[in-house]
Amino acid sequence: MNSLDFSNSEGRRRPIVRIYNARMVYSRTGEGLTRVNLSVDPGEFVFLVGPSGAGKSTVLKLIYMDVFPTEGQVIVGKYNSIYVRRKDIPYVRRQLGIVFQDFRLLPDRDVFENVAFALRVTGARRKEIKRKVLRALGEVGLSHKRSKMPHQLSGGEQQRVALARAIVNEPLIVLADEPTGNLDPEAAEMVMNLLLRINAKGTAVLMATHNVDLVEKMGKRVVRIENGRTF
Ligand SMILES: Nc1ncnc2c1ncn2[C@@H]1O[C@H](COP(=O)(O)OP(=O)(O)OP(=O)(O)O)[C@@H](O)[C@H]1O
Ligand SMILES: [Mg+2]
Repeated sequence: MNSLDFSNSEGRRRPIVRIYNARMVYSRTGEGLTRVNLSVDPGEFVFLVGPSGAGKSTVLKLIYMDVFPTEGQVIVGKYNSIYVRRKDIPYVRRQLGIVFQDFRLLPDRDVFENVAFALRVTGARRKEIKRKVLRALGEVGLSHKRSKMPHQLSGGEQQRVALARAIVNEPLIVLADEPTGNLDPEAAEMVMNLLLRINAKGTAVLMATHNVDLVEKMGKRVVRIENGRTF
């Protein structure tokens, strides 16, 4: 939970992420996004849905500034894609927790170190790192596996470690790209429930998925994307 004041001078809540009329073209193919508008408020849970190739992952890449819009702008906290400098990008990403379909844990580091890694680069103290890592692992129910290597975990457990890594820095928003896509139904439900719990504690979540059944059950806000365009 964070106690930051998100109000602007008029006392309204300021979105964490805003995408205004963004176009993004992957240069070699000409494919990408034609027109995207999206805004996520503090504490919101938003599903980003659409068929394969619609542009869901590209929208998330715009937010973590892996790609930049060719038109329009992307605003993340105080950073704007138009003005952001290359050296600011790590600071943009520190406000975000990112989870991928394929987990992307460091294979040669144990669970504790996978979660600690993002904190070590910020220069946090050892004691603080330990406290935060154990708290994040506690959130996902994996404190007891902290000395295991990723290959010793099930897929669902690996994704829960990835979730712990995503929240350890107390991000404003968790971006999740098909986080349940590689999991069996039971593990998928567990990861989904953890995302809901993280959200209930105050962290915004933007989750890309093509699982329409799941989305309908949840009763959360849904943003549709088709052929690179949001609706
Ligand atoms: N690195 C890339 N280089 C060139 N074109 C790309 C690249 N990544 C994505 N694209 C193209 O951009 C479009 C949007 O892709 P994106 O990966 O965002 O879709 P998606 O909605 O995430 O699909 P999926 O559900 O399959 O993950 C597609 O036409 C895709 O082929
Ligand atoms: Mg994708």
